Amino acid sequence: MSNTQIYHAIVGCGRVSSNHADAFARIPGVTLYYANDILRERTEELASRFGIQHVTTNYQDVLNDPKVTSISLAVPHYLHASMALQAIASGKHVLVEKPFVIKPEDGTEVMTSMQSKGVVVMPVSQHHFDPILCCIKQLILDNELGNIVMTRSHLECVRSKEYYTDSPWRGLWSGEGGSVLINQAYHIVDLLLWLVGSVKRVKAEMANLANAKIMETEDTFTASIVFECKALGNLTITGAGGGEWESYIEIIGTEGVIAFDIAYPNTIHRFELNNKTSMQAWKNKFEESRESGFVSPPGIDYYGNSHCHQARAFVEQIWSQLPQDGVDIKHALKVVNLIQHLYDSARSGNTVLVETSSGA
Ligand SMILES: NC(=O)c1ccc[n+]([C@@H]2O[C@H](COP(=O)([O-])OP(=O)(O)OC[C@H]3O[C@@H](n4cnc5c(N)ncnc54)[C@H](O)[C@@H]3O)[C@@H](O)[C@H]2O)c1
Repeated sequence: MSNTQIYHAIVGCGRVSSNHADAFARIPGVTLYYANDILRERTEELASRFGIQHVTTNYQDVLNDPKVTSISLAVPHYLHASMALQAIASGKHVLVEKPFVIKPEDGTEVMTSMQSKGVVVMPVSQHHFDPILCCIKQLILDNELGNIVMTRSHLECVRSKEYYTDSPWRGLWSGEGGSVLINQAYHIVDLLLWLVGSVKRVKAEMANLANAKIMETEDTFTASIVFECKALGNLTITGAGGGEWESYIEIIGTEGVIAFDIAYPNTIHRFELNNKTSMQAWKNKFEESRESGFVSPPGIDYYGNSHCHQARAFVEQIWSQLPQDGVDIKHALKVVNLIQHLYDSARSGNTVLVETSSGA
C-alpha cells in the first residue's frame, strides 16, 4: 500500500521556519499546505519562497482544516505546550521546536494527550539524526571510549540587539524561559544527556554582561556537572561575545577521546583510541557516514541539514502508524528538567541535585 499524501503546515514563520519548509519540501509525498503566523507579511514571504498553498494569521484555521495532516510548531517557547495541546486535540501530528516545553510538567501533559489521541508528537532534537553523531553514539554504546571520565562543552556566539528586539519574547523569563542556556545551548545539554547519560548534580553561575538594557535573562552561563556515570563535566556558554559560532563538545574516556562541533556536522575535531586497530576502523566508519550525509553548509546554517533528517523521520513515523512510545519526548523532558536545575543552581548559588521530574 502506498503512503498517504501528507499536508503539512508551518506555524510560526520566523527565523527557523525556512529550515522546516525546506526540509518538508524535499520529501516526496508531502505538500506544504499552510503558512501561519500572527504577522501576515511573514506568512506571505514564506509562502512565496516555498510555494505554500494557503496562508493565515489564525492558528484555528489550520486546526479546523481537515486536510491538514501535520504541523511544524516554530513559535516562541512559551507557546509550545499550549499550541501542541491544541494540535493534538484537533488530531494533527506535530513536530515541536526546541525546547519542547519550558516546564517539564507541561510536557508530561502533552505526552499523555498524544497517547490518548494516537498522533505523532516529536520534539526537535535534530542532531540525533546527523549521521556522524549517530556514529559517535554507537562508538560510546560499544564502550570504545572506556569509562567516560570528563566532558568539556563550550558554546560561543554573538547575538545582536536586533535578535532580541525583532522577537520580543526573547530575553524574558516568561517568553523564552531563560536565554543562552535554554535557547542556544539547548543542543549541547541535549547531546550530553544523549551521549553520556543522566546528570546527578550541578553547580552553576549566570550573568547578563552585555545585554542588560534589552533582556532580563542571562547571556553568559557556566556550570560544573557530575554525571550518574561519575564523569565530571563543565559547561561554558556565552551569547555575548567571541568570534564564529562554536558549539564544541569533547568526551574523554579511559580508552580514548572524541570531540566535535555541531556547527560543522560532518566534522570530527579530535579522535583518539588507545586501540589503534579499532581507531582506524572507526575512522573509516566516520568517513562513510560523512559521504552518505548531506553536503554541509558552513557555519550557522548547520541546522538546515539536520532538520532535513528529522523531518524525514517525523514523516516516516506518521506513515508507520505505529503507537508512539514517547521515548524521544521523555528525553526532551530530561533536557528541560536539567536546564531548570541548572537555572535553580545559578539563582541560588547552591549545588543542586538533579531530581527526575514526572515523565522525564
Ligand atoms: N532547532 C534549532 O536549531 C532551532 C534554531 C532556531 C530556532 N529554533 C526554535 O524555533 C522556535 C522559533 O524560533 P525563531 O528563531 O524562528 O523565532 P522568531 O521569533 O524568529 O519566530 C517566531 C514566529 O512565531 C510567530 N508567532 C508568535 N505567536 C504566534 C501564534 N500565536 N501563532 C502563530 N505564530 C506566532 C512570531 O510572529 C514569529 O514570526 C523557538 O522555539 C526556537 O528556539 C530552533
